[in-house]
Amino acid sequence: MSQSIKNFNKSIEDSRTGCKEACPLWDKTFVGMDTDNGNVGQRNILFLGLNPGEEEAEPNAKRPFVGAAGQLLRKALKEIGFTSWAMVNSILCSTPNQASIENPALCQRLCSRYVTTFVHKIKPKCIVPMGATACQVFGLDKKIQVESTKLYILERQTSRSSTEESPIVLAPCVHPSRVLRKGGAKSTEYGTLLTRLEEIGGLFQEGKLTLPKGLPTWPIQCLEQFLFTGRKKTR
Ligand code: URA
Repeated sequence: MSQSIKNFNKSIEDSRTGCKEACPLWDKTFVGMDTDNGNVGQRNILFLGLNPGEEEAEPNAKRPFVGAAGQLLRKALKEIGFTSWAMVNSILCSTPNQASIENPALCQRLCSRYVTTFVHKIKPKCIVPMGATACQVFGLDKKIQVESTKLYILERQTSRSSTEESPIVLAPCVHPSRVLRKGGAKSTEYGTLLTRLEEIGGLFQEGKLTLPKGLPTWPIQCLEQFLFTGRKKTR
């Protein structure tokens, strides 16, 4: 039987070590992950955000993307009809204002093993980093406007043969908070977000990932490392 997301989040929260010594956000509220069905198991698309805000940190919420930006994202997912998704932030503790994080790369690095644990459970076929800072987890260019039109195949170089691993598509996307700033659900930016999500959804034919020919690869060393920051951009 699959584990509930609530129990999974609690187990991750309780298992954390070393935060107090290393992380500037160690005393902030930990907010876990979420999935469309409330369980931890394979989901097709994983959305990766920056970090939770105040609404996500409310004791009766403690879920990512439940504030205004998150509601916009969830509305878009409903409109597109996505039914197999997961959400997590690259930094798991909340701040009132995401922009106030002094050293996001450090916090991302410290959180990466918990995020990676989730990724292993979810086994996503597509990862969608939203906004420039989440994109940095993959060493992607800061120009999110450019990146958010591209698709890559994450290139894994593990000891296992590549035929054993199914491909993961990396599909950068603008952050829903940008859409909110630009006017929300009535803005042209929202239309752009919907178009991008439709494109991502279109990669799945009856739930199966169907790749367009000639997608460029994006190099990563191995699945365990791909959420680590600090890797230099290689192209
Ligand atoms: N912005 C994020 O990046 N994540 C959240 O969970 C909420 C807002």
